Amino acid sequence: MSRKALFLCDNTVLGDIYRANLLAYVDLELVIVSEYEAFIKELHQKWDLILSVSLIGEEDVAKKAYDHLQEISLKTPFAVVGSRSEISNQDDITTLEGNLDIKQLVRAIAQIFKITAKEMAALEVADYFPLPIKLLQYLENAPCNVYVQVSKNPRKYEFALAWEKGAIRRHVVTEYIERGFSVLYVPAQERLKVINLVSQMVITTLDDPNLSKEQRLDALEQGFEVVAAKLTDDAKVSTEVVAISKKCIEQITDVIKSFPKLRGLLVGLAENKSRYLYFHSILSTYICNHVVRNISWGGEGHAEKISFVLYFHDIFLVPIYNKYPQFKYEEELVFNNLLSDREKEVVVTHARMAGELVKTFPRAPMGADAIVTQHHGLTSGNGFTLDFKDDVSPLAKVIIIAEAFVDEIIRARENGVSPDRTEILAVLRSKFTRHTYKKIIDTLENLPL
Ligand SMILES: [Fe+2]
Ligand SMILES: [Fe+2]
Repeated sequence: MSRKALFLCDNTVLGDIYRANLLAYVDLELVIVSEYEAFIKELHQKWDLILSVSLIGEEDVAKKAYDHLQEISLKTPFAVVGSRSEISNQDDITTLEGNLDIKQLVRAIAQIFKITAKEMAALEVADYFPLPIKLLQYLENAPCNVYVQVSKNPRKYEFALAWEKGAIRRHVVTEYIERGFSVLYVPAQERLKVINLVSQMVITTLDDPNLSKEQRLDALEQGFEVVAAKLTDDAKVSTEVVAISKKCIEQITDVIKSFPKLRGLLVGLAENKSRYLYFHSILSTYICNHVVRNISWGGEGHAEKISFVLYFHDIFLVPIYNKYPQFKYEEELVFNNLLSDREKEVVVTHARMAGELVKTFPRAPMGADAIVTQHHGLTSGNGFTLDFKDDVSPLAKVIIIAEAFVDEIIRARENGVSPDRTEILAVLRSKFTRHTYKKIIDTLENLPL
C-alpha cells in the first residue's frame, strides 16, 4: 500500500506538481488542503508525512500547524515547504525549498522514508516535446502525462510531471497560464497523439456558428499551433495539414473583417494572451489588407493570398519561439548565444524553407511561394537584410512594411504606451528609403487605429 501525506498548500500549481511527482517517483499519495481549518479536520486520519507551505497570505501556517501537532503529541514526520516560516531551516524540521526543483524534493522525501535510489523510479524521462499550454485547454483528457520545465538552464533542462494522463481540469490550465507558464511538455513519442486530438477539437470548434469573434480568433490560434507542430514533426504537407490550414486561412479573412479598427483586434488578441507569432501574423494580415485596398495596384483579390502567405511565412520559427519564449523579434533569434547552431540555421533559412513548403501545397494561391521566400527582403530567402531593394515582388514589400509596423506596435506595448501612428510611420520612413516602399507606407496614414 502506498504511503499517504497531507499537504497544507494554497498554490494549486505547486500542489499539483508535488502530487504528481511524489506519486510517480516515491509512491507517495498526497492529499492537498488549501485552508488551515480543513487541514485540522483531516488530522484524525493516519498520515505518513505532514507538509505545510510556510505562509498562506501573511499567516505563518507552517508554524501554526507544527505547534498544533506538538500540542496533540502527533509524532508524524513534518516538513515545511519554503523558507519564510519561523520554523523553516530549524535543525529538527525538514525544510523543502518550495520551488519546482523536483529532484531535490524527491530526494528529501526519499530520505525521510529511507527509500533507496534503486527503489525510486528513474528521474529521467526521454525527450520532451513542447506544446503551447493553450492547446491543452481544448482537451477534455490528456492522452499522456504532461510535464513542466523546472530548470531553464539551457545546458541542463529539467522537467517535472505536471499532471498525469487523464482528465484535464480547465481551471488548473488557467492557473498555469496565470503563473506565467506558456509551454508544457509531453513525451516526444506521444506528441502526435496529442496534436491529432487537438486538431480534431479545433476543427469541431471552428464549425460552431455561435462562436464569438474573439473565441474564433482564439480557436484559430490553436489551429495555427497544431499546423506548426505537425510541420515540426514532418516538414511535408500532409492531408491533415492541408485540411486544417485551409479552414483556418479561410476564417482568418472573415474574422479580420469583423474588426473594423486595429484597436479592437489588438484587444481581442491581448485578451487571449496570444503567443507572439500568431499575434504578429494576424496583425500583419490586417495591415496588409488595408494596404492593398488603398494602393493603386491593389484590390480585394489579394486578401486570400495575403492570409495564406502570412499563415505560413514564419511557421518554422514556431518551435523555436516555443523553446525560447523570451524572444520577441525575429532578428533577436540570430543574435544571442542560447540557440544552437542548428536552430540558428533554421532561423536564417526559415523564409526559404517556408517558400519550399508552400510550393508543395495543393492549389496554393499563385506566386504565394515566392512572396513567402522574399518576406525578409531577400530573393533567396536566406538571411535578413537592412537594405530593402526593388527586386522582390510588390506584395512581399507590403508584407515587409506590415511586419515592421507590427514590430513597432509590440515595442510600444512593451514600453507601456499605446502605439502612435505618426511616430511609427516616421520610424518606417527612415528604415525603408526606396520610393516603392514609401508608397506603401503612405497608405498607412489612414489606417483605422
Ligand atoms: Fe514574420
Ligand atoms: Fe520571418
